[in-house]
Amino acid sequence: MASSLLSSTTNASLSLFPTQTNSKSKRRISRVSCNAADNNNKDDLNISKGHRRDVLIGLGGLGAATSFTYNPFAAFANPVVTNPKSCGRPNLPAGAKPIPCCPPKIDSDNVTDFVFPPKLPPRVRKPAHLLTADEAAKYKEAIRLMRALPDDDPRSFTQQANIHCAYCHDSYVLNGSTAPPQVKVHFNWLFAPFHRWYLYFYERILGSLIKDPTFALPFWNWDHPDGMYIPDIFADRRSSLYDAKRNANHLPPVLIDLNWNRRLGDTSGDSGINLNKVYTNIAAVKAPDTFFGKNFDQGGGQFNASGTLELLHNTGHSWTGDPTDPNNEDMGSFYSSGRDPLFYSHHSNVDRLWTIWKDKFGGVDFIEDDYLNSSFLFYDHDGKLIKVNVKDSLDPSLLGYKYDDVPIPWADAKPTTTTTSVVPASTDNPPKLPLLLNNVTSFTVKRPSKSRSKVEKKKKEELLVFEVALDKSKDVKFDVLLFWKGDPTKASPKNREFAGSFVNVSHAPSPRDLKVKFIIEISDLLDDLKADDQDNIQVTLVPQYGNVPVTINDVHVSYHEHRRFRK
Ligand code: C2O
Repeated sequence: MASSLLSSTTNASLSLFPTQTNSKSKRRISRVSCNAADNNNKDDLNISKGHRRDVLIGLGGLGAATSFTYNPFAAFANPVVTNPKSCGRPNLPAGAKPIPCCPPKIDSDNVTDFVFPPKLPPRVRKPAHLLTADEAAKYKEAIRLMRALPDDDPRSFTQQANIHCAYCHDSYVLNGSTAPPQVKVHFNWLFAPFHRWYLYFYERILGSLIKDPTFALPFWNWDHPDGMYIPDIFADRRSSLYDAKRNANHLPPVLIDLNWNRRLGDTSGDSGINLNKVYTNIAAVKAPDTFFGKNFDQGGGQFNASGTLELLHNTGHSWTGDPTDPNNEDMGSFYSSGRDPLFYSHHSNVDRLWTIWKDKFGGVDFIEDDYLNSSFLFYDHDGKLIKVNVKDSLDPSLLGYKYDDVPIPWADAKPTTTTTSVVPASTDNPPKLPLLLNNVTSFTVKRPSKSRSKVEKKKKEELLVFEVALDKSKDVKFDVLLFWKGDPTKASPKNREFAGSFVNVSHAPSPRDLKVKFIIEISDLLDDLKADDQDNIQVTLVPQYGNVPVTINDVHVSYHEHRRFRK
């Protein structure tokens, strides 16, 4: 499927090091014929891109400032570029009040390239539940001032919330084209860097409103038992941090349930299980593709995948939103979640988990050009429209902030197995594909290889891959159990057999069917279950939502060699 896409070419810098220019971006647009979609390749991770950098470097002369001429390899270099002229109506679900999510007064000829802030002592982001009275007062005052700005000021709270709507409900058409696909920042590798940039500008605007450049956005420390509640500062009805559209059954002191199953209603969370869940989604994950999500699929997003970081965070959205609202506003829908101040502290913790994964668990960032050169637009504290690149987001210290170094009790919260040996999976129970997932379902999946040597396992990770189709305007969760013997509805993240959860938060309703991969690393898991000598894997899927159709189109095991597994 060769489709014509417009590609911005001033982003062709191959440098891994951020540039510090401050010239106006003059975008030169050239038309390249591009088969951008490496759809449905049998590599479930990004290996098709592994050699791209070398190919481009080999061409030479593709420096940042050179003018672009057509070359056949350009088809492989296609970062996501947010074009300021392309912002249009958001694609909202039924029942949502129609809102224009694009920023006001976009002057697309006045886009400034991002410049790193001057080197100062870092702004230290602290756990929201541990703020001093002074710090809490400052934050409340900053948000009060932000809310007081006129709605058409790009720094206003309304406009800040709309940023999320625009990027998550299909407002920006991709790469300056006039037709879809649109820029999307969920279910793909843009999730982490987009939200980092979002918080960066939000934090600096707040700091400038209270004239305190040291202001740092607190984080909702839901990965520590003491922080597993909606922090008190957000629950105070008289403060600017309060939002009425939250689940009334989930106000403090109710513990967040990071494995919340809407089907079961409102049970309080369990701090131990929450820690197991964070362990599984963060500490246990090795490859950037499984952690951050797969590359942005410009062929229309049909084969994207979110990573475990995003999947973990999704539950925080659904759990917080008001279930009496048809779209679970505010936190439970992406178009409205930015209207709850808690959103930014939720994401501050997500951003923090990214830093912890790298600093403490040896995680590594992508180095693919399509990732590094993808760009977004934000208004800064002076109301200037700024173009930022993913590559400039990777080091928080260059952005002038860091996280308070608080304990991470989930670091060793590895779940335990319920038995000492597995029952071999029957050989004649393959999944009946396509599988409409409306009940607990068990089947077996054949492994192409077993009992691999330690060296082989280090070289190639074994992956269990689901190809899932769902209505993305609906909340969805299903859990994956491997070799589970007991009652499937009794399994929880404290069990090692609980391999992971697929979670969707309601977002743009069309095209209705989202096709995504859900990828689980299973080499260590099978070792822990003492199941590495098995020819087949026993899989049980446990749907945890109401009547939302979810289809499993394929399930298979593959082995992935990635040059960027963690050290
Ligand atoms: Cu853009 Cu928490 O989502």
